This record gives sequence, structure tokens and C-alpha cells, in this order.
Amino acid sequence: MEKTGKEQRYEALLPEVEALTENETDAVANMANIAAAIHAKMGFHWTGFYRVVGEELVLGPFQGPVACTRIRYGRGVCGTAWKEGRTLIVPDVDQFPGHIACSALSRSEIVIPIFRDGKVWGELDIDSAETDTFDAVDEKYLTQLLTPLTR
Ligand code: SME
Repeated sequence: MEKTGKEQRYEALLPEVEALTENETDAVANMANIAAAIHAKMGFHWTGFYRVVGEELVLGPFQGPVACTRIRYGRGVCGTAWKEGRTLIVPDVDQFPGHIACSALSRSEIVIPIFRDGKVWGELDIDSAETDTFDAVDEKYLTQLLTPLTR
């Protein structure tokens, strides 16, 4: 089957992100370039990282409007994805109890945990200004794009 426009844009991102990260071991540098590459290619409202620091998620490199700096374990979409150790796709943030509205324009969201040594080390969080933006295609490609941060 022919690939959709979204799949084609993700396919183009894979070698770009690989080239940007293959000779770099610094996680902050890699998070910064991965966020910028995804944001520019996909046109999301907000694309960025949170890192686990003690009992909280702390804001990392991102593209888009300013965001909440700290999120506690189990709070919001991000804290829930950390607690449950799995990707969360939220088609309508108004329907997610406890959603943390860093930006009033966010309508849907995907949060993908990044694991190191079997524990959640951080997360990729992406917000869209439209409802129902994210599905299994986004999860598949975004998870692949995060591999430089797991090694
Ligand atoms: N909406 C997230 C907070 C982070 S911002 O979207 C950048 C949440 O509910 O955890």
C-alpha cells in the first residue's frame, strides 16, 4: 500500500535523525536536535523532552511555546505515562482527567517513555493544536526516532 504523507515525512526523518546523532553521545545535544528535527518536519504545536530527576519530570530541550518545568510522578499525561511505563495517546486532552495544560492551544497529545536499564529515563511529549492527531503510525516512527537516547 502506498505510504501516507505522514509516513513519508517520518521516513525522511529516520536517516536525518540517525545522521544528526550517530557520532554524538551527549543526551542533551541529541534531545535538542531530535526535538528540532521532528518539530520542523511534522509541524506540531509543541515537541519536547522531559527527564526523570528524582520524583519529578523536569523539562528538557523542546521546540514551541514555553512549558511547565516540573511534573510529578502520576500527574498529567506525562506523569501517568511514566507511572504506567507505556506510551499514552490522548485524542482529546479535555477528556483526560488531570491533563496539565501548559498551553491552552493543545488539543491532543502523545507521550512516549524512554527506557534505560529497564527504567523510565525520560519522555518525548508532543502536543497538537488539533484533536485526534496521533495514532499507531506516530507511535511506531517516534519510538524509532528515540533509539539514539536509549544507547
Ligand atoms: N500536557 C502534559 C504537560 C506537558 S505539556 O503538554 C508540554 C501533561 O498533561 O502531562
